[in-house]
Amino acid sequence: MFSKQTYQNRRKKLINNITEGVILLMGNTESPINFPDNPFPFRQDSSFLYYFGIQQPKLAAIIDVDQEETIIFGDELSIDEIVWMGIQETIKAKANKSGVEKTQAFSQLADYIQKAKSTGRKIHILPPYQAENKITLSKLLEVKISDLKPSVELIKAIVAQREIKEEQEIIQIENTVETSNKMHLLAMQIAKPGMKEYELVSAIKKLAADEESTLAYPPIITIDGQILHNHYYGNTLKSGDLVLNDSGAENKMKYAGDLTRTFPVDKKFTPQQKEIYQIVHTAFEQTKSLLKPGLAFKEVHKKAALIIAQGLIDLGLVKGTAEEAVKNNAHTLFFQTGLGHMMGLDVHDMEDLGEQYVGYTQEDPKDTQTFGWKSLRLGKPLKEGFVVTIEPGIYFIPQLIDMWKAENRLKDFINYDKVEQYRDFGGIRIEDDLLITKEGNRLLGNGLISSVEEIEDFRAKHLS
Ligand code: GLY
Ligand code: MN
Ligand code: MN
Repeated sequence: MFSKQTYQNRRKKLINNITEGVILLMGNTESPINFPDNPFPFRQDSSFLYYFGIQQPKLAAIIDVDQEETIIFGDELSIDEIVWMGIQETIKAKANKSGVEKTQAFSQLADYIQKAKSTGRKIHILPPYQAENKITLSKLLEVKISDLKPSVELIKAIVAQREIKEEQEIIQIENTVETSNKMHLLAMQIAKPGMKEYELVSAIKKLAADEESTLAYPPIITIDGQILHNHYYGNTLKSGDLVLNDSGAENKMKYAGDLTRTFPVDKKFTPQQKEIYQIVHTAFEQTKSLLKPGLAFKEVHKKAALIIAQGLIDLGLVKGTAEEAVKNNAHTLFFQTGLGHMMGLDVHDMEDLGEQYVGYTQEDPKDTQTFGWKSLRLGKPLKEGFVVTIEPGIYFIPQLIDMWKAENRLKDFINYDKVEQYRDFGGIRIEDDLLITKEGNRLLGNGLISSVEEIEDFRAKHLS
């Protein structure tokens, strides 16, 4: 946990940004895999963690904005639970570390809410995503799950706080990015023809565990890099393949790292792989260097699209000018994803609070319709203290190519004959994590090799 004052100050700031009423923050519960006593690993809700720092299931908290009072609701262990799980620090003791004096049994939350409701007080909730919490909120507030109304005022106040990382949070994020760097170096070190993708997965998981960390999300470690969220690890690495490794650690304090490297199974990229890699790498380096306060991330995404389009024009896959190609969204046949997102306690930070509130502004809302652009999670102007990822990519998705080709879509911009030569290419993504500073930006962690030369040198050194 951070210091007691940290959580007290964060809650105080939150109270100051909410006009009136009661904030109800739900902690997460344990979720069964196949029977109740066999749950998925517990992960606390990130907003609950941010304001309380307590990593224990089945807690809820009330922050009374008008009385400036905070209560944590939860049940101390019964003797049966102590028999099976051992004695643990009491909720009261944990709450004290968070600067909260008052704790009550979970069952008393219903009375509290009842009273607040009957006196006409506003009850602010966040959008629930765990089924258990949806049910609990529905019962507590006596409305159908589909009628639960998250408080936009609360969402905006929390986003405004969590998006600006504190110095101590940046230290935590750098720590987990460093673990993530080591995971990536290890994968690039041990990969060789004949190995299974899952061997790389188990190696990076062990490295994370050795640093008291887990993974921040299911890793994407695949020779099919064109499958954007591929979670199948059964392929054998073959000479001529590329390995796309998108993985990041989550440290003890639950901060995330999110890095991607794509490297050859051989010592060198093939000439075709090298050409595509160079385009992605140029987009990666150039867009990273642009990041600074005030610049809309949407513009940085557009810059990546232009670089990718120009690179593909130079190779003969795209026709016309880069400007026109991007205006017509021709680049989205190859670059279907967003350039990046916020990162912090969540790998896609605060995504549960809604992409519109986290990544966009009312004046310039998210495009939820246009292929490619609808996957851009962050569009708004950057501020000092944001932590973001930069992750351009080029992906050849055979089914998408076939569909566009059959429709003759954007035929003035796409050279389908040439694209056919790449249909089995796979995909390349390169991803780093950066802090927006007063002057511009700073790479988080000590840096990880990414250029063709650096990767080929490293592979040559380790692949005997
Ligand atoms: N690891 C998921 C992403 O890069 O957004
Ligand atoms: Mn990633
Ligand atoms: Mn990412």
